[in-house]
Amino acid sequence: MNWKEAGSGPGAVLFVHGFPFSGAIWDDQLAAVPEGWRFLAPDLPGFGGTPPVGGTLTMERLADELVVFLDERGIHRAVVCGLSMGGYATLALWRRNAARVRALVLADTRAAPDTPQARAGRYESAARARSNGVRVVAEAMLPHLLSPHTRATRPDVVARLVGIMESASVEGVAEALEGMAERPDSLPMLHTIDVPTLVLVGEADELTPPAEAEVLAQHIPNATLRVVPGAGHVTCMEAPKAFNAALSGFLAGLRAR
Ligand code: MLT
Repeated sequence: MNWKEAGSGPGAVLFVHGFPFSGAIWDDQLAAVPEGWRFLAPDLPGFGGTPPVGGTLTMERLADELVVFLDERGIHRAVVCGLSMGGYATLALWRRNAARVRALVLADTRAAPDTPQARAGRYESAARARSNGVRVVAEAMLPHLLSPHTRATRPDVVARLVGIMESASVEGVAEALEGMAERPDSLPMLHTIDVPTLVLVGEADELTPPAEAEVLAQHIPNATLRVVPGAGHVTCMEAPKAFNAALSGFLAGLRAR
């Protein structure tokens, strides 16, 4: 996988982006790495600079790709920080390979699977991406991704996010939509998460609203919930200062353990 990294030290944070983004959504985090940490942000298969793998991109497959990515860099355990689809993949990584996870950050994501209606919508969007290109899918999502505050005050963030979405491949988009449609319910396994967990959500997140974050925080034994004011679904880009402050406070707490 194509990736960017910054910082150095004994601690590693693996950032897992959402759909249909790339590792570039984490640029503001890689620009502010706390002392003693190495931040790594891959482009998932079919997104940014990473070619698609071919076939349905299930969350399990994504999780396994992430383990290979850690193996290739000699990283045994990492803090895994996933946003939205990246959160679904992070929960799959916990299910399959909990020993590789030092702590979790679950940003703007949910435990629940798709409703039958949402699942049907995914297959329709995948077909639309294959026949009309990724732009139609990105354009349909854009109004729901960023908060009204971000859209009104941060044209630079809107433009960056559009550029990131345009770097996705048709196969990546279609295969990830099919993979998300197939994901299982993670709720029954949340009680098994025995590592420190930070749950973050934008207060104006339309796609994975604060109520979904509350479910995660209620069912994960050692979880802390932070609601980020003014942000929508892409908190790491919309409110980088608040996101980074919450993340570095969480990481400092891990170092102190
Ligand atoms: C994402 O940001 O990864 C997607 O909105 C997740 C989803 O469609 O469920």
